[in-house]
Amino acid sequence: MEIKKTVLSKEQIQARVTELGQEITSDYGDKKLVMLGVLNGAFIFTADLCRAVDLELEIDFIRVASYGNATHSSGTIRLSKPSEIDLKGKHVLLVEDIIDTGHTLAWLTSHFAEMGAESVKICALINKHERREVEVQVDYSGFSIDQGYLVGYGLDCAEIHRNLPQVYSLAD
Ligand code: PRP
Repeated sequence: MEIKKTVLSKEQIQARVTELGQEITSDYGDKKLVMLGVLNGAFIFTADLCRAVDLELEIDFIRVASYGNATHSSGTIRLSKPSEIDLKGKHVLLVEDIIDTGHTLAWLTSHFAEMGAESVKICALINKHERREVEVQVDYSGFSIDQGYLVGYGLDCAEIHRNLPQVYSLAD
């Protein structure tokens, strides 16, 4: 698939990440904050976002696995890499590159609440709507986008294009 057009420029992303970082900084204050980036897609967003947050915080990454293609249909999900941080009594902020059907974040939110986190919130760079199947409350939403196959800034197409510095859409 060919790259069609720029959806989010470097400047737009940088400005929004700075704003999100400021919001998170003022909302959490001296609470014990743990940012959990969801691999692989969120590795770049997490790296930029954590540097826009002016707080003492812990950072870890988790990885989600689904049986077959279940993440995008039935929501049968497990963690292939759980967090190595003891989350009891801490405030978890899940950091995602994109929300699509909603299954991944719906599952992660209830999973970490069950693990004893004091609170679980979501920060997603892109909240995409065209395929939403499960409602999720997005506490910090970078950009709301209706549709498109998006790549770049962590987002891939068959593992390619994650390193592009902007977000692009691919032609159908
Ligand atoms: C993407 C994204 C989310 C999930 C969202 O990950 O990073 O984790 O899909 O989809 P959903 O809302 O439909 O559950 P993907 O499975 O593509 O893996 P990746 O992060 O390694 O690219």
